[in-house]
Parts: sequence; structure tokens; C-alpha cells
Amino acid sequence: NWSLTGYIDRKVEEIRNSVKKDSLICALSGGIDSTVTALLCHRAVGKQFTAVYVDNGLMRAGETQSIVRDLQSLKLPLVVSHSSELFLKRLAGVKDPERKRKIIGRTFIHVFQKEAKQLGMPKYLAQGTLYPDVIESVSSKGSSSVIKSHHNVGGLPKRMPFSLVEPLRELFKDEVRIIGKELGLPDHFVHRQPFPGPGLAIRILGSITTDRIRMVREADRIVREELDGTDTGQSLWQYFAVLLPVHSVGVMGDQRTYENAIAVRTVTSVDGMTADIGEIPHNVLIRISHRIISEVRGINRVVHDISPKPPSTIEWE
Ligand code: XMP
Repeated sequence: NWSLTGYIDRKVEEIRNSVKKDSLICALSGGIDSTVTALLCHRAVGKQFTAVYVDNGLMRAGETQSIVRDLQSLKLPLVVSHSSELFLKRLAGVKDPERKRKIIGRTFIHVFQKEAKQLGMPKYLAQGTLYPDVIESVSSKGSSSVIKSHHNVGGLPKRMPFSLVEPLRELFKDEVRIIGKELGLPDHFVHRQPFPGPGLAIRILGSITTDRIRMVREADRIVREELDGTDTGQSLWQYFAVLLPVHSVGVMGDQRTYENAIAVRTVTSVDGMTADIGEIPHNVLIRISHRIISEVRGINRVVHDISPKPPSTIEWE
């Protein structure tokens, strides 16, 4: 039962003492960890701090706008880098999940470095590393069995020319949420579902094109519209749509169709390490399916993924 206010004051003081008169930068994903990090940094050094948000073109419907709006209302000094074209160009024709992840991670670093240069190369970089990340990176040293190469917006490579500031290193996720609330983050922000760094790219199986992004984005918006704010939605860890790399035959009016399929993924979990099938009422599932098929051009089939982790993972790639 430690004092959170005490924690905030202590970290603000520590950041101020390390950064002194230099400047400080951080990469902001719109997730809770990087946002709380940014708020602490801003409170500590004010105008010497800048947050950078990279729009990779792979966010959900309305998400970039909503993140930018929230951050601006918190008065954070924010640079938004509109880089979707670059990301989509580098991802063109790439189908392999690991290659997608690597390309996105690398492109993110290039874009971030370019923005940092324009800001006069700040000496300090803040990251939202949590206590479990510290433990995991120590215990996984030497292990070569990577299941997925995680891309985390805060997790820039060590060899970058910055000194690190990591004010959340002693905290668990639920503690970060409490601090976020204390620092004035709105509820919908604090309880946002986890969203992977590579974004919709790993929910589009096969190649990523503008049209395929549109399909998964619209389907995902429908899934969220039907579950956000409901008891079922609140009982789930994540719910989202995945665009499958298959075409199947359907019929519309008296016309044969040969179009795409969407999988709806609903899971419960405590920490994302394991997950159970998230049950949702039959009528809700039917409505989601009906809406996706009638509202999303190019989709003629919807399936519900009923696989636990393990052996499946939460994301399909
Ligand atoms: P998997 O698919 O490995 O996902 O069962 C476990 C949890 O992690 C999220 N996830 C990611 N988060 N960068 C992230 O920040 C990533 O590259 C990434 N890949 C998966 C996933 O959404 C789930 O909550």
C-alpha cells in the first residue's frame, strides 16, 4: 500500500535531476505505458520535453484522431509524424508475419530518428518499460526461441544515441493505470484494450493493401461498436476482427460472389500470456456477422475463432 502521489513526485524529481537543462523525447503509441511516461516527463521538464506519435497507417478506425485529441487536451507537446505511405510502401507484397513485424519495427526506428534529428537530437529518451519487461528481458537472454518478435513503440533499440529515462521500471500494469488516472487520463484511455505495435498489419493475413486495410478496419469498427461499453465487452480482454487470406463462394441476390472472410476473435485473459475463448451471446454474434457482411464491401463470410492460447496465440500472426 505505497503512496502513488509519493511515487509521482519522486519520479518527477528524478527525471528533472537527470535531464537538467537538456532535452527529452519519447515515442508515444497512445497506449497507457508510453502516455503515462510522457505525462511524467512533461511534468518534470515542461518545454524541454517532446512526444512523437508515428502514424503508420495501421491503426483502427478513428484511433489516431482520438489519440491525438486526448493528448492535446492533456497539453502534451506533441509531434505527429504522418508516415503511412512509407510503411505501406515497405510492406507492399509482404506476406510473412515475421517479415511484416521486422519491417514495421525498422521503419518505425527510421521515422523516429528522423523526427529526433529535426528536434535537434535530444540527449534523453524516455521509455515506458515496466517491471515485467525488465524481468523478461533478463530471463530471456540467451534463449533463441522467439515466438513473435514484438514491436513495442516504447522499445527502441539500445544502440540509439540516447541516454534512457525509464520512470515506470518499478511498476506493474495495474499500478500504471492508477498513476494514469491520478495524472488526469480519461477512463476510456486508462482501460483501452491492448493493441499490438504492428497494428492491423498482423490482423491482415497475407498481403497488406489499402483495400484490405479498409476491410479489416471496417469489420473491426463493427465488432467494437457492438461490444464497447457492454457487460460482455467488459468481461473480455480483447475483441477484434482478422482478415483471412481466403476467398469463398457466396450468393448475393441471384449473383454468385467469390469474396473474403473475416474471423471475429474474442478472448478472456489476465495478462495475455494465456487466454480462453471469450463467450459472447449468440444474438450479439449474429448481429456482428450480419452487419459485417452487409456493411463491409468485399466480405461474404464471417467465422468466430474459438481457440484458446495455448495452443493458438491471441493474434493470428
Ligand atoms: P499473442 O498474439 O502473442 O499476444 O498471444 C499476446 C498479447 O500481446 C499483444 N501483442 C503485441 N503487443 N507488440 C505489442 O505491443 C506486439 O508486437 C504484439 N504482438 C502481440 C496481443 O495483442 C495480446 O494482447
